[in-house]
Amino acid sequence: MTYAAAQAARVAFYGAHYVAARVLAREMFAGIERPPHPLPSLSETLAAMRELFAQDWENVERGLYPMPLNIATELRCAMESGRFLMDVPRVVQRRQRKAHDEVRDRAAGLPHYYQQNFHFQTDGYLSDRSAQLYDFQVEALFAGTGDAMRRRAYVPLARFFDETEVDNPVLLDVGSGTGGFLSFVKSVRPQLKTVALDLSEPYLERARKSLSRYANLEFLAAPAEAMPLPDATVDAAVSIFLFHELPPKVREAVAKEIARVLKPGGVFVLADTIQYGDVPEFDGLLDVFPELLHEPYYSSYAKTHLDALFAAAGLKRISSDIAYLTKIATFERPAR
Ligand SMILES: C[S@@+](CC[C@H](N)C(=O)[O-])C[C@H]1O[C@@H](n2cnc3c(N)ncnc32)[C@H](O)[C@@H]1O
Repeated sequence: MTYAAAQAARVAFYGAHYVAARVLAREMFAGIERPPHPLPSLSETLAAMRELFAQDWENVERGLYPMPLNIATELRCAMESGRFLMDVPRVVQRRQRKAHDEVRDRAAGLPHYYQQNFHFQTDGYLSDRSAQLYDFQVEALFAGTGDAMRRRAYVPLARFFDETEVDNPVLLDVGSGTGGFLSFVKSVRPQLKTVALDLSEPYLERARKSLSRYANLEFLAAPAEAMPLPDATVDAAVSIFLFHELPPKVREAVAKEIARVLKPGGVFVLADTIQYGDVPEFDGLLDVFPELLHEPYYSSYAKTHLDALFAAAGLKRISSDIAYLTKIATFERPAR
């Protein structure tokens, strides 16, 4: 009951912010043409959300991770409510002006494709205030299901760490953002050595703060397509909501980099948007999302053949799972 009450409260709180943002941004939605694929009904959406939480709870019952209930973290995030709502009109104006390159100046030296206001986000990924708002924005977009979707990426990682007998294993999070997923992993496995890699200094700084109570951490401000890590030094890697933001050529380069740094027998867990056909009733959302919020590479990602992308890098898929709007695909670097 505690789990159900906590998740229901999250969905109600962030769902209310989703609805409020839609009202504030109604002109944005009015401009959307009928998508080529139908949009899901409310009952289909709620059924898929219930399924996500049922699976999450099953993982708690199996003892895979403790009940996710960190009241201090939840309250800290929830306090961004006012700032989130005040930022919505700025996002709307940016979309009306098609202003997705406001961050060019502050992004000097970073890859060209990265010099954009993804999601028409204020400051892109390049300021403290963007890093402060990010987790709230994700939860509001997903109506309180974001963390539960991310937690599903832990399932194949836990299986790998439980089944392989490696001394002092290393987990790399590629595009770690503000460190939300690693904070969860460290709460379950505090001793695990983790490496957070991201191009955004402000996001990494926030990750550093939220992980400060743990040891065995490394933070790397670097591009995923040229990671400052030696060959075959990482036991497991994960990447959450990064690949859909990369141009196709960069995706290929990042897949090769991940394969390079993984040890033979190591695993890579990719968690990102579902793709066309994964959940046919949600295909319309895949049409609409990149139209609404600046996502220049999303549509091509939603059609990418992931097995072929990673096979070209030398990785073989070993499992796949759907967690509401997120697909979790696990790849292995075959042992020699
Ligand atoms: C949508 S966010 C996902 C963050 C986090 N993984 C999460 O679960 O919320 C994408 C992140 O990838 C980072 N990023 C984008 N392109 C990158 C690249 N080429 N190399 C490293 N990080 C990158 C961004 O700075 C941002 O923090």
